[in-house]
Amino acid sequence: MAGKRTFTMIKPDAVEAGNVGAILEQITSSGFRIVALKMTQMTTADAQEFYAVHNERPFFGELVEFMTRGPIVSAVLEKENAVEDFRALIGATNPEDAAEGTIRKKYAKSVGENAVHGSDSDENAQIEAAFHFSGREMF
Ligand code: PPS
Repeated sequence: MAGKRTFTMIKPDAVEAGNVGAILEQITSSGFRIVALKMTQMTTADAQEFYAVHNERPFFGELVEFMTRGPIVSAVLEKENAVEDFRALIGATNPEDAAEGTIRKKYAKSVGENAVHGSDSDENAQIEAAFHFSGREMF
């Protein structure tokens, strides 16, 4: 799936705020095709493993607590240049730095509660998609 797919999560803050429909609409109207989609809730062990690369960072505990406090909507998205184009669509990690019209500018509250995740490389997109979806759940 190199180059053509990315993985996203609509995070608990955006699910709680009722923004799932609007965010999915912005994603699909920006040219991404949804090839996998589900609502789930990560356990503490799931979040610790998913974010293991950040486990030395000072906000790690806060990040795990936030990502497990309620359901998320995870998806695999297909488009040419998917990883880079999706990172542009969601905007900077900190919504204060995100460009106007980006998903984080519109829906994120803070650098911690920032509405959506987007994979940062083709390799991580594959790893993250496989973490959340079985082969039978991706189309
Ligand atoms: S990025 O996108 O990987 O370059 O961003 P980075 O700054 O490395 O952050 C990695 C993930 O950690 C989250 N984050 C935070 N959570 C809680 N508190 C603070 N201060 C904080 N800073 C960053 C950030 O939302 C990233 O999560 P994902 O799911 O990868 O977007």
